[in-house]
Amino acid sequence: MRPPPAPYTAGDMAETINQWAVITIVLSGIALCVGVYFIRSGNREWHMRAMLTASALATIFLVLYLTRLGLGYEKRFAGPEAWRGPYFVLLISHIILAAANLPLALVALWNAWKGLRNAGTLNNIDAPAARPFFNRHRAWVRWTVPVWLYVAVTGWIIYLVLGRWGEVVTRG
Ligand code: HEM
Repeated sequence: MRPPPAPYTAGDMAETINQWAVITIVLSGIALCVGVYFIRSGNREWHMRAMLTASALATIFLVLYLTRLGLGYEKRFAGPEAWRGPYFVLLISHIILAAANLPLALVALWNAWKGLRNAGTLNNIDAPAARPFFNRHRAWVRWTVPVWLYVAVTGWIIYLVLGRWGEVVTRG
């Protein structure tokens, strides 16, 4: 007789949520690069679409991440001792910059939104009422884009490291 299937635990659910979280943060990083490409090639409409997509994906990531935390699921580094120090530098820089990314992205979006409202259309961004907002948008995104990318790439690296050398702390 076949043994009964193993019950689906809260830990399994947290693992699945974790996988989707890393997928969404990596996709948001890709959408971000696509958005930068569009603005560099002068395509404002598609720049806006790509950046709104990147923001939506990052929001989904945040919800998944907080859900996983709520389930009390965590993994601890249990790899080679020599890698513990570098891993923690990566982890701590990732956490600090992930927290910084939220206000950076919100201010960038807020200025783009106010600029667009005052311009009326994306063909009119040099209108006097809109220009200051787009100037601020440009100034903020100089920091937002590299921070966002760093968070997406390191999030993915941490996921891979913990997949190989992670030890589950709590499992339901
Ligand atoms: C958080 C999401 C966003 C990021 C990270 C972002 C990033 C960028 C970047 C890197 C540039 C080029 C800056 C430069 O030339 O130095 C830019 C310019 C621009 N963005 Fe965004 N963007 C975002 C959202 C938006 C949205 C939603 C809109 C639409 C309302 C928008 C409209 C523009 C426009 C019109 C420019 C050109 C500004 C100018 O030529 O002065 N952006 N953005």
